[in-house]
Amino acid sequence: MLSNEIRDKFIAFFEKRGHKIIPSTSLVPDKDFFESSDKHELLFVNSGMQPLSPYLMGKAHPEGKRLVNIQKCVRTQDIDEVGDNTHDTFFEMMGNWSLGDYFKEDAIKWSYEFLTSKEEGLGLDKDRLYITCFAGNESAPKDIESAELWEKAGIPKERIYFLESNWWSPGENGPCGPDTEMFYDITSDGLGNLTLEEYLQADQKQQVVEIWNDVFMEYERKDGKVIGKLKQKNVDTGSGLERVAMAVQGKDNIFDTDLFKEAYQLLINLPLDEKAKRIILDHMRTSVFLIADGVKPSNKDRGYILRRLMRRAARYTSQLGETSQVLTFLASFFAEKYKNIYSNLLTSDQIIKEEVLKEEQKFRKTLERGLKEFEKGVDPFILATTYGFPIELTEELAKEKGIHIDREEFDRKMYEHQKLSQTSSAGMFKGGLANHNEKTVKLHTAHHLLLAALQEVVNPDIKQKGSNITEERLRMDFLCDHKLTDEEKNKIEDWVNDRISEGLNVIRKEMPLTEAEKIGAQMEFGAKYPDIVSVYFIEDKNGNAVSKEFCGGPHVSNTKELGHFKIQKEEAVAQGVRRIKGILE
Ligand code: SER
Repeated sequence: MLSNEIRDKFIAFFEKRGHKIIPSTSLVPDKDFFESSDKHELLFVNSGMQPLSPYLMGKAHPEGKRLVNIQKCVRTQDIDEVGDNTHDTFFEMMGNWSLGDYFKEDAIKWSYEFLTSKEEGLGLDKDRLYITCFAGNESAPKDIESAELWEKAGIPKERIYFLESNWWSPGENGPCGPDTEMFYDITSDGLGNLTLEEYLQADQKQQVVEIWNDVFMEYERKDGKVIGKLKQKNVDTGSGLERVAMAVQGKDNIFDTDLFKEAYQLLINLPLDEKAKRIILDHMRTSVFLIADGVKPSNKDRGYILRRLMRRAARYTSQLGETSQVLTFLASFFAEKYKNIYSNLLTSDQIIKEEVLKEEQKFRKTLERGLKEFEKGVDPFILATTYGFPIELTEELAKEKGIHIDREEFDRKMYEHQKLSQTSSAGMFKGGLANHNEKTVKLHTAHHLLLAALQEVVNPDIKQKGSNITEERLRMDFLCDHKLTDEEKNKIEDWVNDRISEGLNVIRKEMPLTEAEKIGAQMEFGAKYPDIVSVYFIEDKNGNAVSKEFCGGPHVSNTKELGHFKIQKEEAVAQGVRRIKGILE
């Protein structure tokens, strides 16, 4: 049975039992949905119940008291687990809902029927089902009723376990309650009856897999404490499509199901290990759904998560080289695969492709050099600001090598770095990753050469006063007492173009501020710098610096990448301050 059929059967089963079909909401939470809980801070919808919170609290739903849906979810808290058999950062949650209508009896009966019925349901083997129920604590009693209902349905007592962890709440505040979870034995021979201890071990080894969770939401939490019962008794069930597909299709991991199989085939001949393939597939599928719901890669919040997913996927394909577009290819593939189920993938497939391509190209440019830099010694700050490595990626690389990363130190440096960018943002070039693309990176290196040329041709004491770079041109303000002559301008252009054609290496070094000052690295006039600074050197064939500047980067690695430099305009901006606008052709 393929995933399309599972979705259809789930919806049809509950529709027949009086449930109204409601669509999935966007992965980006709608603030209005969370009026009755603290979930407005949530980055992404991560369970079926969040968008339904107000209705679980008692608000009347326009479609009535019985609902069925398949909700898109993103759970990035599981990101480190991805690569194993059952975890993914995106999944589709199938759920049936009772808003103050039926309760445990019908919920359990229908779960059992849907799982085991050959005609109406999935036809799973009842002898491979294991059930857990709530063991009770100071907030709520042991859920004996659910266990009895399971026995009545046909599950032997020996395969029903009581655990205290069978409780579901979406956060510190809002509806919550005990749950009963269904697990399926995916081993080839079948495990049979298990003691509690054996069952827990099987769960840990992923021999049994959770495929459904019925939550009996009748309590309310405030600041993490159960404060009493809700106005109504609700049922919130959640069944992850990927895992159900795995059970139904007799696979021992979600990547072998039809949801991933064709995409997996696309990677089959690439020199990547199994875990890498799984991570790439998972992260790109999630990225596609996020972009379709309006998220763009950025350095903040949702955009940062998206960027992190794509860059982590890119890291696992780094050996494919700077020009690889495998991620873009996969993104198009997933958009195509899911477009009949989620129509916004159809309408946004161009945006998806463009966003992934942009991000992939941007990151691949610095990825290889960043990894080399990492091999030489780990500085998470430089990896982040110069090479665009999300800190979590650096932490992961470090962990693999058994190296400890001082996260506090990183956060402190980033904070200073951001402060510095803010200070110098008034007309000056910003350090860091923001707004950098191929064109601005090239102009940035040309900018360094221009300052060196001014000092070489006009006056060794010339100081930079401000700068600004767009995709089209660079702009430099500098202290100078006269209008540049045509001859000076020609000489400056020639000097820059000579350095370009010599193909000089651009090298970044990190050093204490005092040392950088000692070697005479160029600073922005009037800017403030942290204790440890990054200095960019452009070195000639003999290793002598033709340019050395305080700078957060990024830059090209060799001047030959720049093309031809030309001064477009030279003018006065203030008494003793001149401005040059220059372009690369
Ligand atoms: N809210 C529960 C879960 O996410 C059931 O839908 O597991």
